[in-house]
Amino acid sequence: MRIMSVPTTAVPNAVPRAEDDAVLATRRHYVMCPPEHFAVEYSINPWMDPNAPVDTELAMAQWRALKDIYLNLGHTVETVPPQPGLPDMVFSANSATVIEGKVLGARFRSAERAPEAEHFRRWFSTEGYRDLVMPSSINEAEGDFAWTGQLLLAGSGFRTDPGAHSEAQEVLGVPVVSLGLTDPRYYHLDTALFVLSKGPRPQVAYYPEAFSAGSQRVLRRLFPDAVIADSADAECLGLNGVSDGKHVVLPSEATGLARSLEGRGYEPVLTDVSELRKSGGGPKCCTMELHGE
Ligand code: ARG
Repeated sequence: MRIMSVPTTAVPNAVPRAEDDAVLATRRHYVMCPPEHFAVEYSINPWMDPNAPVDTELAMAQWRALKDIYLNLGHTVETVPPQPGLPDMVFSANSATVIEGKVLGARFRSAERAPEAEHFRRWFSTEGYRDLVMPSSINEAEGDFAWTGQLLLAGSGFRTDPGAHSEAQEVLGVPVVSLGLTDPRYYHLDTALFVLSKGPRPQVAYYPEAFSAGSQRVLRRLFPDAVIADSADAECLGLNGVSDGKHVVLPSEATGLARSLEGRGYEPVLTDVSELRKSGGGPKCCTMELHGE
């Protein structure tokens, strides 16, 4: 714990007291991959235009700034070596879902990204992770899986197969809640929702319009006081945020969302990810979390 927890007095069946919802940072363990070979050479989501110029140096600078934010907040960051010919490898969130030492690898939908999965599998294996399973269903990892500390929220509709949801439940041994994505701009769950705090009463922020009607009802039921984002927040990929329970790293344009979060006691940390967004990515896409380590 980076910040000591505020003691809460447990009163059974009591109305939650204000301090039960106090925002607290916990130390996180992240895995990132530098965008040394970053480019937009193919288009597998509506954000990617292979004809638009991309500045790899600028992408590197933005990535380094993101990594420095995490280090300055006291988090641990490990890096996986980037590979030539894999321009999207910077989006490490897509390459594994890790909960309490159990690793479920990735299986990409597109041929262009498919080899990334093996590079990450090898990295985990070299790091000594023994509890490591490669999925049989299409599974783009934390792109479509968000761990609340209680539930694994699982997206499908564009990338991850619904079959990967039950596979994740079986391999990771955690309850999975399937959510349907309906807007191609928000092709991964992590472009439409992120977890703000993982405590006993987990909190999320999300953009309802990115989800099917039934999934919107599920989200309302699970998170009645979620932070609800609007289209301006979503259109800069503001929902691709990374929270440590208190500090919330967001793309610099997500000022409306930042204000809503401040109103809830969070501390937004805005950072420029404009170059990475040309590939449809933001802070979270560049950040795989090793949950529970
Ligand atoms: N160009 C990448 C793709 O379309 C971006 C991935 C973003 N990652 C994420 N976790 N949403 O696959």
